[in-house]
Amino acid sequence: MTNLPDIPVEQLTEDEARAELARLADAIARADVAYHQKDAPELTDAEYDALRRRNVAIEERFPALVRMDSPSTAVGAAPSEGFAKVRHGVPMLSLGNAFADEDVADFVNRGRKFFAQDLARDPEMRLCFTAEPKIDGLSASLRYENGVFVRGATRGDGTVGEDITENLKTIADIPEKLAGSDWPAVIEVRGEVYMTHAEFQRLKAHSAKYGGQDYVNPRNTAAGSLRQKDPKITASRNLKFYAYGWGIAEDGSGNPQPPAPTQFEAVQKFKDWGFVTNSLMIRTEKVEDLLAHYRRIEEQRATLGYDIDGVVYKLDRLDLQQRWGFVARAPRWAIAHKFPAEQATTVLTAIDIQVGRTGALTPVARLQPVTVGGVVVENATLHNEDYIKRIGNSGEPIRNGVDLRVGDTVIVQRAGDVIPQIVDVVLDKRPADAVPFEFPHQCPACGSEAVRELNEKTGKLDSVRRCTGELICPAQAVENLKHFVARDALDIDGLGDKQVTQFYAEGRIARPADIFTLRARDERSVKKLKDVEGFGAVSVRKLFDAIDARREPELDRFIYALGIRHVGETTAALLAKEFGTIEEFRRVAVGATHSGGDAATIFPQISGIGDTVRSSIMAFFSNDRNIQALDDLLREVQPRPYVVNVSADSVVAGKTVVFTGSLEKMTRSEAKAMAERLGAKVAGSVSSATDILVAGPGAGSKLKKAEELDIEVISEDEWFERVAK
Ligand code: IVH
Repeated sequence: MTNLPDIPVEQLTEDEARAELARLADAIARADVAYHQKDAPELTDAEYDALRRRNVAIEERFPALVRMDSPSTAVGAAPSEGFAKVRHGVPMLSLGNAFADEDVADFVNRGRKFFAQDLARDPEMRLCFTAEPKIDGLSASLRYENGVFVRGATRGDGTVGEDITENLKTIADIPEKLAGSDWPAVIEVRGEVYMTHAEFQRLKAHSAKYGGQDYVNPRNTAAGSLRQKDPKITASRNLKFYAYGWGIAEDGSGNPQPPAPTQFEAVQKFKDWGFVTNSLMIRTEKVEDLLAHYRRIEEQRATLGYDIDGVVYKLDRLDLQQRWGFVARAPRWAIAHKFPAEQATTVLTAIDIQVGRTGALTPVARLQPVTVGGVVVENATLHNEDYIKRIGNSGEPIRNGVDLRVGDTVIVQRAGDVIPQIVDVVLDKRPADAVPFEFPHQCPACGSEAVRELNEKTGKLDSVRRCTGELICPAQAVENLKHFVARDALDIDGLGDKQVTQFYAEGRIARPADIFTLRARDERSVKKLKDVEGFGAVSVRKLFDAIDARREPELDRFIYALGIRHVGETTAALLAKEFGTIEEFRRVAVGATHSGGDAATIFPQISGIGDTVRSSIMAFFSNDRNIQALDDLLREVQPRPYVVNVSADSVVAGKTVVFTGSLEKMTRSEAKAMAERLGAKVAGSVSSATDILVAGPGAGSKLKKAEELDIEVISEDEWFERVAK
């Protein structure tokens, strides 16, 4: 059986991705416990960061699969390429977690024990703690020199973050110049960038109208907004910032100069200097007061207007913080008291089946509307047939082995704005006449047979049942059209989900090619689009112009837009690069499907593309209706040939490079693409023609051979240093 961790992200099927996200969440959580709570790391930093990066990459490819306990909602993603790197003056730490009241009492008692001698010596001494909301956003560090904002960075891996100064400058809560004059000559003010619920909803509504991407939650959206290449986009997102901490704080001669003697006063200072600080901060020495404040904040959680995921307690006196010190990456003197996932009880009124672009039949729970943590929940995901039957992805029983029936009273859970889930059934309340749910074996949209394919890799039945109707299935056709025009595909302005659904229902478009003949047909038609409610002469002209503007799409976008199963953006780019033109891709793929068995030899081995993708491409091109649809489309659009911008003046231009061992900062295909962009040739094996071997940990025979042949061997880090010159 294939080992999931070995499969490149771009080749994972949805089921594999789901299983892999579960494995990663588990592995990362275990590593976190070993690191933070047991103070005994089990993984190297590089291994840990590789797990996190893989998790994020899978989540980006499958946003719908983001788990409630996703590790990416915690800290620690390594900085990605694209922005300049910034080394923090003082590392940006994470926090240990408390879940129960006792954990908080333990934390306070640990402090009392640590300072027992001081407390015994000075009866007046009070060990005070602050309590404030834990904002569910992204931390940023803002460097001010002589009161002027000079650089801002993301947390990154805590030591090195990304320079996002220009984007941070667009946030109104971040002053360009500090007010007052009692600030240190150099200070890194730290805090959380976040997005309000109102802004998130506004963006979502706008996106639904214009056919843009689906935003998962305010935190991810804030993260995406902060990492835009164009600060104008960040500016349009109305991000906000709460200041709650600092890194370096020095006077003009480089001596430490903390903002104030205590945490509480330091935050007051931030306010004086023009920052926005959270008003829900208190200071007390009593555990009961801390817990009471936690409950107060928990009660207000739904109406705050932004996401928080707990309360942070910090020892107030900075001199004592320094003495109490740190464990690994977290301070001993602070702790995050997390909120439990929010749950509510309601009734499952129906199970509907939705048909996706690739024909997947996805069951959706319709619920009696119920408020979970301030949000009204009416639907919950049910994933697939087995999930209803109580079987998890790996065959394990879920919900204590109880199936779901219409009429059941169920417990719904929502965590951090992820799609709500049904986590349990109240069996006592099951109606006497409730019957097991019969998952349809026919597609509800077109009536075609719906089947569960045998997964060749695992030898098990696919957990997803799929409609076999393909192009005759209206649900698949509409979803395909939506995919075709979506932002990351052809990106046609003004043609969003709503318009596609409407045009399909009105018979204006059925296949992608129809989009491009819309203007000509509309001119001849008596039922003109401009007369349809919601449209007008101007908006119709704009729409037609936007369609015409996309008649020469980039090849990779075009291939992605075709909606071939398992061909995501990364794979589409690999295919575009390999074949150069759509005609060549079509010729080779069709040729391979007609070759009678030896398709694998005709369809080239492409690094980064595995068997799943290959057979999916074959399946697409062995269907005449798909070829017809593609050819009709190619009469209307001319995808641009793929051009690789090769830089001739890099230090590796003209060199032959081999990568071996495990790479930690880039995937194999990224490494190849990068080297080729820099004008190098990438080979699969070491020979006397090899100039450089880039060897990661675990390098074996290639390394040995390179040493025998006296070929230059460098590490991945040295590779980056070299190409950065
Ligand atoms: S203090 C050394 N205070 O939580 C102390 N962090 O789990 C470091 N966060 O990376 C952070 N609200 O992104 C602190 N009021 C708050 C916070 C907060 C949110 C985030 C921050 C940090 C993470 C640690």
